[in-house]
Parts: sequence; C-alpha cells; structure tokens
Amino acid sequence: MGARLASNLEEKGIEVVSGGLEDGIDVISNDGLADALVGVDTIVNVLNTDRFDPEGAISFFETSTKNLISEGERAGVRHHVVLSIVGVGDENASEVGYYLGKVAQERTARSGSIPATIVRATQFQSYVPVLADQHTVDGKVLAPRSLIQPVELDEVVELLAEAVTTLERGSVVEIAGPDRYYLDDLFRATLAERGDDREVVTVAGNEASNALVPHGDHRTGLVRYPIAGIATV
Ligand SMILES: NC(=O)c1ccc[n+]([C@@H]2O[C@H](COP(=O)([O-])OP(=O)(O)OC[C@H]3O[C@@H](n4cnc5c(N)ncnc54)[C@H](OP(=O)(O)O)[C@@H]3O)[C@@H](O)[C@H]2O)c1
Repeated sequence: MGARLASNLEEKGIEVVSGGLEDGIDVISNDGLADALVGVDTIVNVLNTDRFDPEGAISFFETSTKNLISEGERAGVRHHVVLSIVGVGDENASEVGYYLGKVAQERTARSGSIPATIVRATQFQSYVPVLADQHTVDGKVLAPRSLIQPVELDEVVELLAEAVTTLERGSVVEIAGPDRYYLDDLFRATLAERGDDREVVTVAGNEASNALVPHGDHRTGLVRYPIAGIATV
C-alpha cells in the first residue's frame, strides 16, 4: 500500500518521504523518525504488523501511532491520515486480536494532537489468497459463512490520496468493493482459479456474518473481483 500510494501522490506532484524499516525508519524505537518528518505536512499511516495476537497487535498499533503523533507534532505536521479496516470496531469482530490493534490505532490517532482523518477499507481483492492461507489449518481452508466485500487496492489508494489533498481533515470515510460474497464461496472460487486444490471447509464462525462489510455511508469501488460467476449476496 505504501509504495502504491507514494507513486500515486508523486504523479500528482506531491513530494513523498517513505517511512518504512527498509528506509531506516523504525516507528517503534523512533530510530530515524524525527529526521524523516522534517518539513512533512501530512503523515499517511499505512503501517502494518504480523502480530495477530491482541497484546502484540495493540502494542504495535498504539506505540507506532503515539510515536508518529509526538514526533509529528514536534516537526509541525498538520494532518494524520490513517488506513483502517471497515467493521473492526464492530462488537462481533472484536475477538480478533489484529482488529483490536486497529481499533487501538484509530482511538490513538483520534485522541492525538494532530487532526486525524480515518480511511476504512474492506479487504483488498489481492489479499484474498493471503486470507485463505491465514485460514488454513492442516492443509484445509476453514471459512465461516461470513460476508466479505473486497475492494481493489488502487481504489483505496485513490481515496487515501484524496484524504491527503481534498477531503475535510478529521473525517471518517469508508470504501468497499462493488460486490458482496460469502467468504467460503470466495475462497473456493479463488483457489480453483489458481489451481490450488486445498479443500475449503465451511465452519461455524465466531464472528457475526456481517461484521466486516459496510453498514453506513461508504464509497463503492467500481472494479469487480477478477473472478466472474461467484454468487453474490
Ligand atoms: N490487507 C487488507 O486487505 C487491508 C484492508 C484494509 C486495511 N488494511 C490496512 O492497510 C495497511 C497497510 O497494509 P499493507 O498490506 O500495505 O501492509 P504491508 O505490506 O505489511 O506493509 C507494512 C509497512 O509497514 C512498515 N513497517 C512495519 N513495521 C515498521 C516499523 N517498526 N517501523 C517503520 N515501518 C514499519 C513496513 O516497512 P518495510 O516494508 O520497510 O519493512 C511496510 O512498509 C495496514 O494498516 C492494514 O491494516 C489492509
């Protein structure tokens, strides 16, 4: 996401400073952060962690967001844009450790001294195969019959770019793809298309079936999931 957004903003004539570990910046230890923020007007927070346990995810998203805000304030940053996930604050999604981390990230950003704009996206279409891997146990993909409305990555990039340039600072906006599916159906079609013979087993979920799809005002992406013929809901 960070790389795609940087290209998009640079095409619009906006100067971008990349802030990842590979750039020598660590938002947990603060190494390199103050120098990177000199002259920066807007922080776009698209950080991620591979910690999915509640303590690890909350600790990463809270600490990184606090550090960005405190160092950003010192550097005179005027706007903080955060990429979050549709539905993570829904009580039915709240058992998932990673989502608790994202809720903590939103809360920390909103209570910070720099005006925060929150962009919430549904799952990226390109992320669905990764999601299937994350649901794999003993070679089988276990999928609840929950709803998913995947969005094309570049449509999220464009909304983030709007958040940087034109959207009212402090707003909360959501984006989802054009079609809603059952997760198990989506996994079956995606694996079949890729010639992946893992069995997809429908299981009783611990999430309500509609926690991660938008329920209020949102932007609907135009790009359809690249596999046709999957039943929509
Ligand atoms: N995947 C989805 O379907 C989806 C949907 C909605 C929202 N989101 C959100 O989108 C965001 C970005 O996701 P992504 O897939 O682009 O993540 P990603 O590919 O894992 O990239 C994460 C970035 O965070 C950087 N990073 C990690 N730890 C760092 C640290 N300690 N200091 C500085 N930089 C650090 C990494 O830097 P290096 O590359 O230099 O290591 C990398 O640039 C996440 O917040 C996620 O919750 C994802």
